[in-house]
Amino acid sequence: MQSYLKSLALLTAWSITLIAKGQIIPQPQSIEILEGKNVSFNNFKLNDKSVAEHPWLGRDPFFLIHETCEKVRNVEVVLIISPPKEKNAKGTDEYSLVIDKKITISATTENGLKLGVASLKQWFYLHYNYEGSLPKVKIIDAPKFNYRGVHLDVSRHFFPVQFIKTYLDILALYKINQFHWHLTDDQGWRIQIKKYPKLHAVGSWRNETMVAKNFQPYVGDSTPHAGYYGQDEIKEIVQYAADRGINVIPEIEMPGHARAALAAYPQYSCRQVQQNVPGVWGVFEDVYCVNDSTFNFLFDVLDEVIALFPSKMIHIGGDEVPKSRWKECPKCQHAKTSHNLKDEHELQSYFVGKIDSFLTSRGRTLVGWDEILEGGLSPNAVVMSWRGTEGGIAAAKQKHQAIMTPGSHCYFDHYQDTSKTEPLAIGGFTSLEKVYNYQPIPSTLDSAEQTYILGAQANLWTEYMPTEKQVLYMLLPRLCALSEVLWTDYKDFISFENRIDQHEYFIFERNFWNYKKYEPKNAH
Ligand code: ACM
Ligand code: ZN
Repeated sequence: MQSYLKSLALLTAWSITLIAKGQIIPQPQSIEILEGKNVSFNNFKLNDKSVAEHPWLGRDPFFLIHETCEKVRNVEVVLIISPPKEKNAKGTDEYSLVIDKKITISATTENGLKLGVASLKQWFYLHYNYEGSLPKVKIIDAPKFNYRGVHLDVSRHFFPVQFIKTYLDILALYKINQFHWHLTDDQGWRIQIKKYPKLHAVGSWRNETMVAKNFQPYVGDSTPHAGYYGQDEIKEIVQYAADRGINVIPEIEMPGHARAALAAYPQYSCRQVQQNVPGVWGVFEDVYCVNDSTFNFLFDVLDEVIALFPSKMIHIGGDEVPKSRWKECPKCQHAKTSHNLKDEHELQSYFVGKIDSFLTSRGRTLVGWDEILEGGLSPNAVVMSWRGTEGGIAAAKQKHQAIMTPGSHCYFDHYQDTSKTEPLAIGGFTSLEKVYNYQPIPSTLDSAEQTYILGAQANLWTEYMPTEKQVLYMLLPRLCALSEVLWTDYKDFISFENRIDQHEYFIFERNFWNYKKYEPKNAH
């Protein structure tokens, strides 16, 4: 009997440690279970002042879920913008969350409050089964990296507004603060631009899509694929993201990956030949022609983009630009010689430089894939390093900011398991453990250079993700691993995979979010 009690005591101590050790993902900097009876969470009563001062809180359906519950016991939620009293949290978006007689979130910034709300939601989910009550807790927390990004390609496959909102809900729960929205590519233009209505009327439609990997011989699905976001929908998404502490970075691809735009306006290509929006994946020879009429068109497009997106960073693509058309085009060759450019790489640099000056004149910052380093980096550009980490390293050494998104660790379109039963993916292998062990700061940079690495980002290219279900399968739970990489120095894969197994699957299922189920290799 005595040994039974002893085991029970040990078990209880172990459970409390497990709770205290942060089932929350990403692992908070400090978490302490407070003494005393749990707090009933049958109803959150939002403090009127908080709702008035922070209307996004009142717009969050999470806080309305339990209002109709009969057994109403109110718990007041108070949000305060002020420096947390505890000084061991640091960072721009530090926050503290205290669940006691009432729930108090304090932070120095509005986004800090939103991070506190994300932790509160996680705490709620974790204790959902516990008779409607929450353990009292004190969390003091701050992010490691300021840039915590996730991308989504809506060109290869279009996803409606409702799904983008779900995606943002998931990102916010894991404290991701940047949504990189890949709005244009060869296979579809997805944003309404009022001055150029053919961009969406023509560019958002393709006749069909290649089936699986049937490049040669080509097999199409004979099914049109279409969709775009109207400007009102874009505004709605930007607001929805902002309510959750997420900045939306639009990407308008140039000078390559532009076939959908050129299907609508072939006059901005070198050969000016009318072509379809392609339904096959790859890199296409036809790109924007380097001349003033193209620049005027792109400046007009970017002016409308800037008006829609408050994001300081505007992504202009810049990857995978074949130079064959430029080499044969009199206009492009004229641009090259008149600006004393050595080759077509320098011509691309010139192109990016023009766009950089334009965005800078509008108070924005250009971001581009690492190819923008070739031929010389434009003065204010931020580099997104995708072909490994070399691009990010080179940018940092040139005192340019960089975001790490190497294919090896951050491409969530890669396979996540070697099993033959995995659904078709583009290739590669990026397992949960590999993502978890990623270190965004390259050890080859000295401490001054390291400060240029803003953070990292997961990319979801959707050639082989035709459905919402498939996107979520590729996102979850790898997102949880990246979120912890970006949030904290704490690293313990065994703890992580057990937290995923014991809690995150429950959260995913409760929300009807599809996911890849891993069996933990090191089960507790
Ligand atoms: C890329 O994956 N082409 C940026
Ligand atoms: Zn040309």
